[in-house]
Amino acid sequence: MIIRPETAADRDAIRKTNDEAFGGTIEAKLVDAIRASDRYVPELSLVAVSEGQTLGHVISSYVDVEPGARRVLQVGPLAVLPSHQRRGIGTALMWETIRVAETRAEPLLLIEGNPAYYERFGFTRADAVGIEPPEEAHGPRYFMIRPLATYDPRFRGRAIYPPETFGSVL
Ligand SMILES: CC(C)(COP(=O)(O)OP(=O)(O)OC[C@H]1O[C@@H](n2cnc3c(N)ncnc32)[C@H](O)[C@@H]1OP(=O)(O)O)[C@@H](O)C(=O)NCCC(=O)NCCS
Repeated sequence: MIIRPETAADRDAIRKTNDEAFGGTIEAKLVDAIRASDRYVPELSLVAVSEGQTLGHVISSYVDVEPGARRVLQVGPLAVLPSHQRRGIGTALMWETIRVAETRAEPLLLIEGNPAYYERFGFTRADAVGIEPPEEAHGPRYFMIRPLATYDPRFRGRAIYPPETFGSVL
């Protein structure tokens, strides 16, 4: 299996991977909205591919932190085909996201998801270090931060989902 940035030829497979993993079309629409926006970071839309088959996908995009509309990366959606879950593909996609974000000197990653899964990658509750979840988030327990090497703990504020990406599907 290899993990690499998506190309234009991957787009249908990425849509299918998200639809199957989530059992609906919302996340695939979010991926398309992110790609069409200036929040998109091509090197952080990653596919996991084995023998020509796309098995997983993860994307990260910029959200705002108020005050000041400071842009920080949020990871997600993360999707692995149901037939290939629990084989380490999600783990590999997450660690590659963290590695690439470090090479970009990003200070942190945000994520909305299940702490039982994301704590293993170093995510902890964002509000505990002063970053409040967006209004649309499913409660503070599920809104998490992964500090990176250049993280400054004085960074504080409220995350805002951009209307053109997360705001368009939530
Ligand atoms: C969540 C998801 C991305 C994990 O990817 P994966 O490749 O199956 O995960 P890995 O093989 O790397 O890790 C497996 C471990 O993660 C844990 N795990 C997997 N899915 C989990 C979930 N939904 N909640 C909590 N823990 C989970 C389990 O502990 C599992 O270990 P185990 O097999 O020893 O019990 C994948 O299951 C998926 O696409 N699910 C549907 C979509 C989704 O919920 N995406 C995340 C929200 S953005």
